[in-house]
Amino acid sequence: MTTIDSRARAAIRGLTTYQPGTPIDEVKRTLKLSTSGERSRTTVIKLASNENALGPSPKAVVALRKATSNLHRYPDATCGVLREKLAKHLNVETSSLLDGNGSDELIVLALRAFVDPGDEVVVAQPTFLIYELQANACGARVRTVPLRNLRYDLSAMKAALSPKTKLVFIANPDNPTGTYVTAKELEAFLRGLPSQVLIVMDEAYYEFVEADDYPQTLRYLHNAATCPASGGVIITRSFSKAYGLAGLRVGYGVASPAVIRAMDAVREPFNVNSLAQVAASAALDDRTFLEHTRRLVREGRTFLTTELTKLGIRLIPSVTNFLLIELGPDAAEVAKQLLAHGVIVREMSAWKLDGFLRVTIGTMRENRRFIHTLKSVIKGLGD
Ligand SMILES: Cc1ncc(COP(=O)(O)O)c(C=O)c1O
Repeated sequence: MTTIDSRARAAIRGLTTYQPGTPIDEVKRTLKLSTSGERSRTTVIKLASNENALGPSPKAVVALRKATSNLHRYPDATCGVLREKLAKHLNVETSSLLDGNGSDELIVLALRAFVDPGDEVVVAQPTFLIYELQANACGARVRTVPLRNLRYDLSAMKAALSPKTKLVFIANPDNPTGTYVTAKELEAFLRGLPSQVLIVMDEAYYEFVEADDYPQTLRYLHNAATCPASGGVIITRSFSKAYGLAGLRVGYGVASPAVIRAMDAVREPFNVNSLAQVAASAALDDRTFLEHTRRLVREGRTFLTTELTKLGIRLIPSVTNFLLIELGPDAAEVAKQLLAHGVIVREMSAWKLDGFLRVTIGTMRENRRFIHTLKSVIKGLGD
């Protein structure tokens, strides 16, 4: 591993680069398989980055084809069409919205807008790795609060706040556990917070959640007076997951107009490219695709839960499109062998969850292939 240049800012010299899920083509090259997709006899399946197994929204693809003739133009810097559409969809004012190059960018913008070096940021551990990485890059002091039974411990997170805390990140549902905080838990947490604290509610997997007690955080924004958090909340959502547009990078944030203005002030002017804007607008109208996606995830989750339970493998109940499963000391070896068979899953040591793997729910065919391969890998290890 190469080290970071010693002239880099002190805050980033100790950072570890984020390791994304291995791309399919890389695995094919390693396994010396054809990279031409369908024509290859041994297919590689990727269940490692919580992408949409159905592919992109078909309506988005149609819209994209038409949009390519305008590629010589800069994109609309204010994402006008998309923002209007989102405003209607969410029943908020456009002044409460900001679009980003993936919801990842909204996380970075929140940090850039609200955190000075030396300020504190509270995050759970483990959780989505970008919060800690980007907060460190801003020179923030990151206070980490362990999960409790693989769920956010909001009481402990509240106890970790100090007069220097500016931001708290809550992934709801959480990645990599797939668990969620309930409306009751969240409201108890938000009540009586110091006014300098903003809460980022990261809802990248919002569209998959069907639990009745999941908090509908947009309600807090409709009427600032009813928001239990005195500092306010920033809600971030994504087109990468349920809408199938991870490759285009679009997400959005919803917050009070004043908070949005602060984040808008530090974004690059053309942060969301023109194809991404067109595709996201079309995908938002694609209710059929969204319903198919939800059904696929629901059925896949049931199938995988049943099959893994039959194998005696513990899994964490998930409300998302992925499952965290516990395999014990062999987990890393199992991930390696699955990869050698063309099945990419996520090994969890970067999250300090040794013994666990994270598996994205795929098509039924992919789910069956995963279970079949897992069985033979486990059997091989036992022999
Ligand atoms: C919890 C969480 N938040 C945010 C993101 C970033 O998503 P996007 O593709 O919108 O940047 C992810 C992606 O995996 C995620 O798991």
